[in-house]
Parts: sequence; structure tokens; C-alpha cells
Amino acid sequence: MLKKFSGLIKTFFIRRSPLAQPKKVSINQEDYILRSIMDADIKELIALEKDVYFGETPWTKSAFLSEIHSPIHHLYACLIRQKEIVAFIGCRVIGNDTHITNVAVRRDAQNAGLGSYLIDEVEKFAIMNGCITLSLEVRVSNKDAQRLYRRLGFESLSIRRNYYTEDHEDALEMIKRLQEE
Ligand SMILES: CC(C)(COP(=O)(O)OP(=O)(O)OC[C@H]1O[C@@H](n2cnc3c(N)ncnc32)[C@H](O)[C@@H]1OP(=O)(O)O)[C@@H](O)C(=O)NCCC(=O)NCCS
Repeated sequence: MLKKFSGLIKTFFIRRSPLAQPKKVSINQEDYILRSIMDADIKELIALEKDVYFGETPWTKSAFLSEIHSPIHHLYACLIRQKEIVAFIGCRVIGNDTHITNVAVRRDAQNAGLGSYLIDEVEKFAIMNGCITLSLEVRVSNKDAQRLYRRLGFESLSIRRNYYTEDHEDALEMIKRLQEE
């Protein structure tokens, strides 16, 4: 009960965000800018989604807008190289859990550590906000992403049947425990 109550307090009142200002970061000897996502980025984010999902766009403009303006505490961040967005991630804090809602890296920038870097940033954000777990869903067929998540300490939790509305594929729910409960 106490744990549930403290989770609710965290959801609505305790809000800590690390990205008030853009910052220069170096990932595998390459320089990037890490900053919060803004409304003006959405066109580029949709193009990035089309690039990684073979023309499909899992998130529409309104889905991005509602997430980045959500009253639920969240972090939506992107990495910029030579003025172009090459990767982004989003998460929400719900009680004691930070849930990763979206992560994508432009195809020509994959396998260079950007996905791992962004997930580490979200993990720091989760810890800063007192969360106990980090969670996400991934398509059961997306074995590359699952391998990355396992390497970063996520474990499989459950299968969500017919999770994806477009094609009814199942989702694997994965979780990383950040602190002892
Ligand atoms: C899944 C995804 C976000 C991973 O992003 P990424 O930037 O390629 O991830 P990383 O580079 O951190 O890690 C990928 C692999 O590259 C390796 N790698 C990282 N840095 C490297 C480097 N400098 N040199 C060589 N390999 C490297 C990692 O070890 C990792 O190997 P693993 O798959 O065996 O664990 C990206 O592939 C993507 O956008 N996929 C399409 C969208 C998607 O599926 N999103 C997830 C939905 S749940």
C-alpha cells in the first residue's frame, strides 16, 4: 500500500529531468548533441521511423505530440549529428516504473552504440526519479533489439498476445530491475 502510494506521488509530483539544456556528448569517438525533442522535430522523427520500419510509421504526428506534451512525467530525447536527428528515445514514469515507449536509430547510424547510449540515459533518468524498474515491449520477431536489451540487463517478463494493432503480432514485455525491491 505504502509502495503504491509512493509510486503515485512520484507519478504526479516528483519530476526530475536532466535535459533542460542541449549537451554535447561523445559516443564511440563521434560527437553528437543530446537534447529534448521539440514539436519542430516531429517531421524528421517520422522520416526516421519510415527509414527503420521500411516505410511504416508506428507513431503518427498526433501520437508524438501527445507524448511530448503529456502531463505524465516523461523524457523524449534525440541525438543530433551534423544537424540531423540520427536517434531518439522516449519514456514515461508511471509509479515505480519508467516505461520506454519508443526507441529508434537511423539505419546508417546503427551498431555504433547510440541505442545503448540512449537506453543508459533513460536508466539514469529512471534512477533520478526513484524508479525500481525499467520496462518496454518489443515485437517477438525483433530479435536484434531483444539481444541488445538482454545485453543491457533486461529480462523477459511476459508475452502480450495480439499487442500490435496493425498486424496483431505478440509483444515480449521486458524489464530491468534497477534496485532491490
Ligand atoms: C534496436 C535499435 C534501437 C538498436 O540501436 P543501435 O544504435 O543499433 O544499438 P547499439 O549500437 O547500441 O547496439 C547494437 C549492437 O551494436 C554493437 N555495437 C555498439 N557499438 C559498437 C561499435 N562501436 N562497433 C561495433 N559494434 C557496436 C552492440 O554491441 C550491439 O550488439 P548486440 O546487438 O550484439 O548487442 C536499432 O537497431 C533500431 O532503431 N531498430 C529499429 C527500430 C526498433 O526495432 N526499435 C526497437 C523497438 S522495441
